Amino acid sequence: MKKYKITTFGCQMNVHDSERLAATLEGMGYSKVEEEADADLVVYNTCCVRENAENKLYGHLGYLKTLREKKKGLKVAICGCMSQQDAVIEKIKSSYRWVDIVFGTFNLHRFGELLQANEESGRMIIDIWKEHDENESAERAFVPASGREVKHKSGVNVMYGCNNFCSYCIVPYVRGRERSRKPAEVVAEVRQLAADGVVELLLLGQNVNSYNSGGVSFAQLLRMVCEVDGIERVRFMTSHPKDMSDELIAAMAELDKVCKSVHLPVQAGSSAVLEAMNRKYSKEDYLALIGRVKAAMPGIAITTDIIVGFPGETEEDFQHTLDVVRQVGFAGAFTFMYSKRAGTSAASMDCQIPEDIASDRFNRLIEVVNPIVYEENKAREGVVVGVIADEYDVERGVLTGRSDCNRTVHFPASSELAGQLLGKLVSVKITEGKPFYLLGEIV
Ligand code: SAH
Ligand code: SF4
Ligand code: F3S
Repeated sequence: MKKYKITTFGCQMNVHDSERLAATLEGMGYSKVEEEADADLVVYNTCCVRENAENKLYGHLGYLKTLREKKKGLKVAICGCMSQQDAVIEKIKSSYRWVDIVFGTFNLHRFGELLQANEESGRMIIDIWKEHDENESAERAFVPASGREVKHKSGVNVMYGCNNFCSYCIVPYVRGRERSRKPAEVVAEVRQLAADGVVELLLLGQNVNSYNSGGVSFAQLLRMVCEVDGIERVRFMTSHPKDMSDELIAAMAELDKVCKSVHLPVQAGSSAVLEAMNRKYSKEDYLALIGRVKAAMPGIAITTDIIVGFPGETEEDFQHTLDVVRQVGFAGAFTFMYSKRAGTSAASMDCQIPEDIASDRFNRLIEVVNPIVYEENKAREGVVVGVIADEYDVERGVLTGRSDCNRTVHFPASSELAGQLLGKLVSVKITEGKPFYLLGEIV
């Protein structure tokens, strides 16, 4: 039996794409291994959102070249967002001639055929589509349990692509224009997943709040999805602050199955920087939105993404970012140093910020973010939260899952009990808030 190893470098969308690829391979009789050294096929599902994501791929390829020399017949496939860039394809062709297959974000459903074409020809196969083809069923597949990382959880794409063109961001160039799936199709997939043992959904899109299919809004779609029997919990990402409607806030508050957590990337606190980023909201708009969200759902966990060192960002601008962090009290924040992406409009802006200043701001940001996240975790002590038990550590006798408020929770359980609870919604009382997770006990 042939063995495969898939490494995913990108976001939740990429993770879900990798699950589809895994399901394709499982269907072809491959089985999964943890180490590249044990594999017959290594797949890299790449990300190009920041330069360090790209560098990771080249680092892996360096190691793989050596491995491949020792292990004849080891196949290597590269896919994902990086492959959508012409410069990357040129680099692979010139410096990594030994790679077997390269494909992109619009044709993952063709993976099986590409593998076969490579087997037959023994040559490098490059198949990159520049856009989504309406006539292909590429974006309509359901990922069976064989491909899913956690059997009772699944991502579901509700939309693809992005039209926002935030000035720093490469995603619209590599994922194409925004397109929403038909609600009936999404619901049919969710039913199929529920019948296949899925209890928790993550609805996926670069900007789910702008979902619109024949007049059906994201809030309406959320209601439809929650009606599916067997589904216990629904999350979604990502929300763009400019499109988070009162209708959606009301639906979130009303629907029991929808987690009381939301990822709302602020990116920057200064209205001037936000404008240069083409985000289409100001600092005040963002804070007002947070006020509405908290009023509708007290205790909601709000997480965010923040970029420091965007071109032209002054110390004063940066102080606005710190101010937003303090005012909102985020439950978590992904923090990034601005990375210049060729082809985006910010790449040609004047006053790119020197690396040492950006990295100093980055460190100062983390010093403000971390204690706030810790404080928010501490505030959960004594509270009973719903946790879906995802995995069990036999040695430590500990179950781990995500709370309703999207925090990682560890709680003790005997192996017998754990066997019954995996994939189930468990009531857990929080005994201690740690800097990045919670400890609790079953009630
Ligand atoms: N569609 C999502 C996120 C896509 S990328 C959204 O709009 O929120 C995930 C995060 O990467 C972004 O939120 C942003 O914070 C960060 N990011 C994107 N481009 C970047 C760049 N050029 N440099 C640094 N961080 C970037
Ligand atoms: Fe990138 Fe902005 Fe689209 Fe998010 S909304 S994917 S940050 S362009
Ligand atoms: Fe990266 Fe592509 Fe996601 S660039 S962040 S993997 S959409």
